[in-house]
Amino acid sequence: MAAKWLKDAVFYEIYPQSFYDTNGDGIGDINGIIEKLDYVKSLGCNALWINPCYDSPFKDAGYDVRDYKKVAPRYGTNEDLCRLFEAAHQKGIKVLLDLVPGHTSEEHPWFLASQKSEKNEYTDRYIWTDFSFKGAAGFPYVGGESERSGCYVLNFFKCQPALNYGFREVREPWQKGMDDPAAVATREAMKDVMRFWLSKGCDGFRVDMASSLVKNDDEKKSATSAIWKDARRMLNLEFPDAALVAEWSDPPLALRAGYDCDFILNHAHGGYSTLMRDYYNHVAHCNPDSTAEDHSYFKKDAGGNINLFLDQYMNWYEDTKDLGYISPITCNHDTVRPAFNLDERECKLAYAFIFTLPGVPFLYYGDEIGMRYLDLPTKEGGYFRTGSRTPMQWDDTENLGFSKAGAEKLYLPVDPAKDAPTVASQEKREDSLLNTVRSILSLRHAEEDLQADAAFVPVCTEPEKPFVYQRGKLLCALNTTGSALEVTLQEPQNGSVIYKIGDGKLSNGMLKLEAQSFVVIRRD
Ligand code: NOJ
Ligand code: CA
Repeated sequence: MAAKWLKDAVFYEIYPQSFYDTNGDGIGDINGIIEKLDYVKSLGCNALWINPCYDSPFKDAGYDVRDYKKVAPRYGTNEDLCRLFEAAHQKGIKVLLDLVPGHTSEEHPWFLASQKSEKNEYTDRYIWTDFSFKGAAGFPYVGGESERSGCYVLNFFKCQPALNYGFREVREPWQKGMDDPAAVATREAMKDVMRFWLSKGCDGFRVDMASSLVKNDDEKKSATSAIWKDARRMLNLEFPDAALVAEWSDPPLALRAGYDCDFILNHAHGGYSTLMRDYYNHVAHCNPDSTAEDHSYFKKDAGGNINLFLDQYMNWYEDTKDLGYISPITCNHDTVRPAFNLDERECKLAYAFIFTLPGVPFLYYGDEIGMRYLDLPTKEGGYFRTGSRTPMQWDDTENLGFSKAGAEKLYLPVDPAKDAPTVASQEKREDSLLNTVRSILSLRHAEEDLQADAAFVPVCTEPEKPFVYQRGKLLCALNTTGSALEVTLQEPQNGSVIYKIGDGKLSNGMLKLEAQSFVVIRRD
């Protein structure tokens, strides 16, 4: 069963290079995160997920790890990270690091040893064919770059050779079984990395490409799941409070594999993408000039339908509610920011929904002020994702308060718009997006019925009526359209509005919601 502290956890995802730069080199750092912990707390977030902050050549922004046990010098030192764990804990904030178990950088010492022609401890740490002129049976591979004769299998970009966790079905002479000593050694090496950071005070991991480990796996990923169950056993014995959050986006599989949480991600045609990014279902990638169809549910009068989300979500939820948590996100470092498509009011309603769902929600840094998606050239393997990774906008000082380096030295440019949203400007406005996020999260912490465990039951999902759902004993209702909507409820007949965006009321069984409104109602 999931770590207890997750019951009321709300995560804040920090992309470290873009959060806050304290030494004027133009890149965010660990000390910058420490300095902003009070801000994180002020939002109502009580947990962090920090994207990979390890030593790396940064060809995939740090998801190409060169040393799992060393903080990248551009972010600081291991001591800084340990101080962050301590400072966060003092403020009641947990810290998850990013674990990248499926691949390393091509510059990792394990890989440098593995590519040598002489046999050594790391020869089979990665997946190699047995001849440089033989491809990898349908897996993406690189040939012709190693001293040893063989091609190596990739897990993602060219810079990311796949670690060898073995093959569930061995179909070629060069494929090792899951219980081959080399595959077992990889598994143990990853547990060793987990122990290293957990024993220094980290509270768990968000796990990159969690379903990618064992190759030729079956549809249910049973072999990869066995690896995670084994890791979970180790955690239960040695670090019982540690949390594991999967990047899997298949909660029935991930939670059965021993994860506490699994994200709902923005896969094209997945339910989540119909909420805010329906345009993504009609064009291959984000294109700022696209005039593609967009029926996002939270976009006013775009003809969206909440059932497209619920059809997938309810199946997952019903199947997994006793196993662990589904994690809805505002966005992440791989996804186009909500503000690309939604205005402030639309974002408020979308976040109100995300933060009143069961499970464990994640807020991506900057989404609380509606930071925009910028149209930028690629940086460190970001491509279209780069536009969602720009520096946090704190105030109206130099570089919007992100850094004292010259603008040309910044990791990425800050939003050049005159009206670029900032924390400072939104703090002054009572009804800003920032203050709305704060008020919803504070309500969530005050009402157990809005937290991870209370039941979620859709009550009305009919078109042209408010979308009404129950959380425990509370009733939530949303109207994302530009006109007032109403619905007759069997029960409750009456209740008091304890939270609202816009306006609405319930009296004598009639629930009426003004245009673009959200309410939480406590039955009288
Ligand atoms: C998923 C990560 O979120 C993404 O940023 C990265 O490029 C790939 N995995 C490869 O590690
Ligand atoms: Ca710095």
